[in-house]
Amino acid sequence: MRPTFRRSIAVLMVVAAVAACSAAQTLREEADRREVLVGTAARAYLLTEGRYVTTLARDYNLLEPENELKWEAIHPAPQVFDFLPGDQLVEFGRLHRMKVRGHCLVWGRYVPRWLSDGHYSADQLRQLLHEHISQVVSHYKGKLFAWDVINEAMDENGRLRSSLWYDQPGIGEAGRGTAYIEQAFRWAHEADPEALLFYNEAEGEALNVKSDALYAMVRDFKRRGVPIHGVGLQMHILDLKPDIAGITANIRRLTGLGLQVHITELDVALPVDGEGRPRNAADWQRQAEIYRSVALACFSQPGCTAIQTWGFTDKYSWIRNWTKGNKGSPLLFDREYVPKPAYFAFRDALRSLPLRMRAPLQ
Ligand code: XIL
Repeated sequence: MRPTFRRSIAVLMVVAAVAACSAAQTLREEADRREVLVGTAARAYLLTEGRYVTTLARDYNLLEPENELKWEAIHPAPQVFDFLPGDQLVEFGRLHRMKVRGHCLVWGRYVPRWLSDGHYSADQLRQLLHEHISQVVSHYKGKLFAWDVINEAMDENGRLRSSLWYDQPGIGEAGRGTAYIEQAFRWAHEADPEALLFYNEAEGEALNVKSDALYAMVRDFKRRGVPIHGVGLQMHILDLKPDIAGITANIRRLTGLGLQVHITELDVALPVDGEGRPRNAADWQRQAEIYRSVALACFSQPGCTAIQTWGFTDKYSWIRNWTKGNKGSPLLFDREYVPKPAYFAFRDALRSLPLRMRAPLQ
């Protein structure tokens, strides 16, 4: 062999070795190696779309039905439970060795008309809620590892919201503080003692009057033995200006109570034009940096064990509807399922964490 030829083979081998070492790992591979959960909300009716399912299974080790387990969907008439779409997502998760989170058992919104307009007495409502929680949690026993038991019970000032369950006369707990919330946790725990039970909330991510109230409530629950295991921080970021230091401190104080924190509904909305395209090209990078910072704020603390985004492709994000067309493009993949700068920044944040940084998740 001529020396120059031998040299070029050697060079090629080095190049190949370097390429193999830095071979692109998926988000999921990076998460698995560090025993953290990286998940997304998913919709059962999209499981027929090829790129949707390949992306979901390739990049995530956790999924959560986006709407399928809400009262309106799963309990559409008094004696009728429709488990099918939820079951399809759970089965998808099983086939692809993903964990599945349940969302949600009690919420003042997305309740069916038969319930909200039913003029039920407090006792009847109590029975209906007990029955609902028992049926739904038992159906998914052993299949869902965690549940958002209560969703968004507080208003922006941290006071308990007026809702079917709180006050009209509802479950009959008005004026009795958090009684209906505690009761829901106890019923869920009875139905599946293994499931991790979460209180899930919006706008309480950083340090503010709402997160103070949330902290006080869950600290009280822990002290009095209410079966709560974690807090879900939704984290819909609508203004490109999250207070990362505040978020980090809030996660620290919550995990300091011995609770897990899951970031449950992360998305980072950008101002968009009528076509849904970002108005400002520099926003891609700002969005990426926010995803990176949130990933680090959570995963650098051992009690923060999961980050879920609220969908993964911009094609199906809820944000444009919610913001009446003003904001959009909030997720890790664009409408063609191409990973965005946010994807790479999020993955880089995972890569920067030490391997085997925490005890295996249950
Ligand atoms: C949203 C879904 O994304 C939409 O598809 C649906 O039309 C309305 O609900 N907080 C929550 C989620 O806890 O359940 C909401 O999901 C978004 C806000």
